[in-house]
Amino acid sequence: MDRNLALECVRVTEAAALSAARWVGRGDNNAADEAAVNAMRNVLNSLNIRGRVVIGEGERDEAPMLYIGEEVGSGEGPSVDIAVDPLEGTNITAQGGYNALAVLAIGKKGEFLNAPDTYMEKIAVGPSAKGAIDLTKTPTENLKNIAKAKGVSVPDLTVIILERDRHKELIAEVRQSGARIRLIQDGDVSAALATAFPDRGVDVLMGTGGAPEGVLAAAALRCVGGDIQGRLVFRNENEKERAYNMGIREFQKIYRTQELAGGDVMFAATGVTNGDFLKGVRFFPGGAETHSMVMRSSTGTIRYLQATHNFDIKRPTF
Ligand code: FBP
Repeated sequence: MDRNLALECVRVTEAAALSAARWVGRGDNNAADEAAVNAMRNVLNSLNIRGRVVIGEGERDEAPMLYIGEEVGSGEGPSVDIAVDPLEGTNITAQGGYNALAVLAIGKKGEFLNAPDTYMEKIAVGPSAKGAIDLTKTPTENLKNIAKAKGVSVPDLTVIILERDRHKELIAEVRQSGARIRLIQDGDVSAALATAFPDRGVDVLMGTGGAPEGVLAAAALRCVGGDIQGRLVFRNENEKERAYNMGIREFQKIYRTQELAGGDVMFAATGVTNGDFLKGVRFFPGGAETHSMVMRSSTGTIRYLQATHNFDIKRPTF
C-alpha cells in the first residue's frame, strides 16, 4: 500500500473529529456520532482508493452510511478494506469525558476479520508481553505469564477493564491475584493501545467490549508490535445468525492478532476529547487545532500530527 495513504487517513479522522467535537458535552450521542460519520464518509470518498467498509456502523439496513459492505473512495487506486469507528466513545463525547477518538484502519483486501456488531472477549498487551497471552487460560494464569514475560511480579501489573456489570467476576479475580486495576467507562480501542506504551501505566486489557473495536485494536497493535486475542460473544441466536451470514463458522474460535487484522495495515486516530494519547479538538476564532496519530505495520513508524485548520480558507461542513 502506498505510504502516502497513511497521511490521507489522517485527513479522514481529522474531519470526523472536528465534526464530532462540536457536540462535546451536549448530551446528544446520536448527533455526535452522525456528525462524525458524515464527515468521515465525505473525506473517505475523496481518497484515491477502491475501498470497501468491512468494519463500520452496522449492516446496510440499520446504518445509512459507512455500513458494512459500502464502497467508498474515488473508485480508482488500490483495492483496500476499511475499518472505521468514526466516533470511538459516543457517550464520552456526549458527556464531555476523556479519551474519545475518531478511528480508521486500512488493510489489504480480505485481511480484516469481518466481525459482526456483537461483543468480543479480549486480552491485549504491548510488545513486552507479546506471546504471553492465552484466552483459554484464566485471568490469573494470564497475569502470571504476563508478569513473567515483563520480568515483574503480578502486583506490579495494572489491568485496564471496562466498568461493566458483566465484569464483576473478572474484577474480583484480578483483585484476588494482587494486580491493580484501572476501570474505564468507555473506549477499549485506546485502552488496548495504551498497553503498548509503558508510560501510560497499563499492562493488559481484559474483558468484553465491542467486536468491531477488537479489530481496530488489533490493527493498532499490529503497528506497535503488541498482541491481542479475541473470542466473539453472542447474546442470542439472532447475533449468531448474523455472524454466520458474515462468514463466521466457528463461534468459539479464538482469533489472534493476525487473524483480526493481517497483512499491511495503517491505523489513524484523531482526538475528539483530551485523552491518553491525543489532545482533543480545540476551537479558536476562525479555526481549530487537532492532534492525530498515524502508524503503519510495515515500518512500525508512529507519527503524531498537530494540525491547525483555517476555517476562513477551508470552510468546514459542520
Ligand atoms: P462507541 O464508540 O460505540 O460509543 O463504543 C464505546 C465502547 O466503550 C467501546 O470502546 C467498547 O468496545 C464498547 O463501547 C463496549 O460496549 P458496551 O458499552 O455495550 O459495554
